[in-house]
Amino acid sequence: MAKDTATYTHGHHESVLRSHTWRTAENSAAYLLPELRTDHEILDIGCGPGTITADLAAIVTEGHVTAVDRAEGVLVKAAEHAAARGAGNIDFEVADVHGLRFADDTFDVAHAHQVLQHVGDPVQALREMRRVTRPGGLVAVRDSDYGAFTWYPASRGLSDWLDLYERVARANGGEPDAGRRLKSWALEAGFEEEAVEASSSTWTFAAPDDRRWWGGLWADRALHSAFAEQAAAGDHATREQLEAAAEAWKDWSGRPDAWLMIPHGQLLCRV
Ligand SMILES: C[S@@+](CC[C@H](N)C(=O)[O-])C[C@H]1O[C@@H](n2cnc3c(N)ncnc32)[C@H](O)[C@@H]1O
Repeated sequence: MAKDTATYTHGHHESVLRSHTWRTAENSAAYLLPELRTDHEILDIGCGPGTITADLAAIVTEGHVTAVDRAEGVLVKAAEHAAARGAGNIDFEVADVHGLRFADDTFDVAHAHQVLQHVGDPVQALREMRRVTRPGGLVAVRDSDYGAFTWYPASRGLSDWLDLYERVARANGGEPDAGRRLKSWALEAGFEEEAVEASSSTWTFAAPDDRRWWGGLWADRALHSAFAEQAAAGDHATREQLEAAAEAWKDWSGRPDAWLMIPHGQLLCRV
């Protein structure tokens, strides 16, 4: 069983969770929703602060969600969120996707949103997700693809930020251009091509509140999150370069013509 040696690039600083708690099942797992039944048992891997998790739990009203993450601290926040939503059908526990404690064929759906890009061995992760899913069930994964982020207007500062982000994420053992690789990883993990439905979807930030929110949180992430610490500790960027990245996001978000598209690859793999 492979052990994850990757370091999680974003960490769980407030500026990161500001982004992750915006996520809903609708804006982040729409490809999965038509497949869900109210009695499904779901495993949500790398649940983070758990907003998608709570949405999934609200759909499987006669079923159950087991939510796991490698980071204990964020599970506390996810549990608080579930309690505030009155979700009584979620259990939380610490787990590493590379080696799950669950028996074979335990869940109807194994789901992971924006997780495979951060793990040391995404193929082993998919093997584990497949193992714990019942025959007829689904492995559902969605990941962004940083190399395909598209923005307007052109910005040297944002290009430098992207280059820096990709270097830090890869030095941490992850793969920031995961979206385009998901299908290849699933085939390597043993899924037949006929069992894999590969598609894509995007987030777009252009409306005034949306672009200020996104630009503002990345300006803070560039200076205060684990990404900033790792960039400096690994000699990937100086403090001045991190400040330039923050300024680039602020400049971009202040422009009325600013537009950003974040593409994702996504898979439904039939077990
Ligand atoms: C980008 S966040 C996504 C959180 C949530 N799924 C969402 O989309 O809002 C990635 C999460 O995966 C967790 N993670 C990273 N490596 C992991 C591993 N090997 N096993 C389980 N969780 C992991 C991190 O701690 C983090 O909370």
